Amino acid sequence: MDYVKLPEFEESGYVVVDSYDQAQDPAEWLDIEFVDWKSSGETRFAPLASAYGDMECNGFWHHEPPKTDKDGVWVPANIARAPRLKARAEEPGANIGRCRVIELQPNDYADAVWNLHQDDNNRLNPEGTGWIVRGFFNLTDNPDSYMVLREDKNDPETETRIPLPAGAQVIIDTQRLWHAVWHPGPEPRYCLITSWESGPELGAWIRARHPISRVDNAPLDPAFLAEAQDEVARRRAAKEAASGAMVDVMSEA
Ligand SMILES: [Fe+2]
Repeated sequence: MDYVKLPEFEESGYVVVDSYDQAQDPAEWLDIEFVDWKSSGETRFAPLASAYGDMECNGFWHHEPPKTDKDGVWVPANIARAPRLKARAEEPGANIGRCRVIELQPNDYADAVWNLHQDDNNRLNPEGTGWIVRGFFNLTDNPDSYMVLREDKNDPETETRIPLPAGAQVIIDTQRLWHAVWHPGPEPRYCLITSWESGPELGAWIRARHPISRVDNAPLDPAFLAEAQDEVARRRAAKEAASGAMVDVMSEA
């Protein structure tokens, strides 16, 4: 048996849908409580839905009893201050797992490539049910920042860079694609991240919003790109030398 997957993700592993009019909403992310949670880069997270409704961000499988990334429980103190963000996570009508706002401090392109990771959303997910994908709704206006996606983390030829102006809505199979955000700054970036179960509800929501599964990359100087690859190789070598073992970069953003 396999998982229920949506055909929209087959080609590239992501879809970009119509932008949301972010300007109509209050900046609720400034009012909610963030907890220290180390992910890719300098980050904090504000949980809106967690495994059992506590103010924490751990993977659902680390709890007792463990569960897959579905049936998240709303965190009362944060959803009281962020009703619009909760409503947006609920808009597709799909089962919600982890739902949180990420705060990302500025970084550079080499940092983003270094931070590339795959998520572990489908751990404990029973076959025959919906594959978990994640929605990224950009809250702050970061037109010069990019969601960096790679099919192969070591191959820049497989890279897609999706710009992140306010209201950008990207849904990603984050267990398939290596991903991280390149955010030059200068202010922190905020984004609503929601785990959704693939199924008819999410499929209908995506199809109603003109999904695009290939975004053309804005040109990047090949020398700049090569220098970043070299920098990442240097960091990897230094880390491996320090640990005495092969180390991979994994996280649970
Ligand atoms: Fe992630």
